[in-house]
Amino acid sequence: MYFPTFRSRRIRGKEVFRRMVRENSLSVNDLIYPMFSAFGSGIRKEISSMPGIHQLSIENLVEEAQAVHELGVPAVILFGIPEFKDAVGSDAYADCGIIQETIRALKKSVPDLAVITDVCMCEYTDHGHCGIIKDGDVDNDATLELLAKEALSHAQAGADMVAPSDMMDGRVAAIRDTLDENGFDHIPLMSYAAKYASGYYGPFREAAESTPQFGDRRSYQMDPANRREALREARMDVEEGADIIMVKPGLPYLDIVRDLRNEFDLPLAVYNVSGEYSMVKAAARNGWIDEERVIMETMLSFKRAGADLILTYHAPEVARILKRG
Ligand code: PBG
Ligand code: ZN
Repeated sequence: MYFPTFRSRRIRGKEVFRRMVRENSLSVNDLIYPMFSAFGSGIRKEISSMPGIHQLSIENLVEEAQAVHELGVPAVILFGIPEFKDAVGSDAYADCGIIQETIRALKKSVPDLAVITDVCMCEYTDHGHCGIIKDGDVDNDATLELLAKEALSHAQAGADMVAPSDMMDGRVAAIRDTLDENGFDHIPLMSYAAKYASGYYGPFREAAESTPQFGDRRSYQMDPANRREALREARMDVEEGADIIMVKPGLPYLDIVRDLRNEFDLPLAVYNVSGEYSMVKAAARNGWIDEERVIMETMLSFKRAGADLILTYHAPEVARILKRG
């Protein structure tokens, strides 16, 4: 293929041709919207670093979820801000915990919206780590029991899917076993398979009030320098029974998305995390970028890298743009 026999520009010359040869596309069905459920009532507190994203008390969250559902977004993923935190994250697996109450309210008012729950301990522990602390570090095996209890209580409250984000070894098997033993073998599990210890989670920690009170998460989340390790992490989760695997963060890890796409045939998700969202919002507010264009280009980059599903705070905006055409 060489010039002048071949001219790449011929097929780019008309919008109708560009539409015909477009290799990837984005659908509203690809979107999952993360939401923050806060204890109390009448709460609608904007996250200062995430314009447009709020901590919402249950009645407000239900209202917003209804709107998101009407836009055609198929699913939300829930994060909880409990009234009380303690060393073992009791609210995470309490029958009347913040997430359990939110699930019940959502399933009652918006039954067709898929409710996915983030399964982790960091929003519920007073030390802010993703599990139980022993000798200054998170104890893997002791944490597994609590994660399984948390996932089970989400399923009992009516969650449609659970998504463990803690990065403990063996958590997919532990959760799968507990769900199966208790009559929830039909509930799918989406695992945060390759989750990196990332600075891009900064704004989320303000939103979820889950900043670790000492140290960091590098003893359980992945080292940003590692690529092959993502395949091992994903393989473990697939063998333990994950139904969907996820890469997180998104934009800085598109190579990992592509690696997992090439290696596994399961549905693949990518998490366009808080810091990625905040950077776009900040630049747009300064008039430095065309916000809509950058958002849609970012979404397409995930599809091109091989993702099926995109967890993104932009979901309602993207749905609106897609609808408008
Ligand atoms: C909890 C969790 C985090 C995110 C999703 N689940 C934060 C963390 O691991 O520190 C980050 C999401 C985001 O930044 O948007 N383990
Ligand atoms: Zn966590």
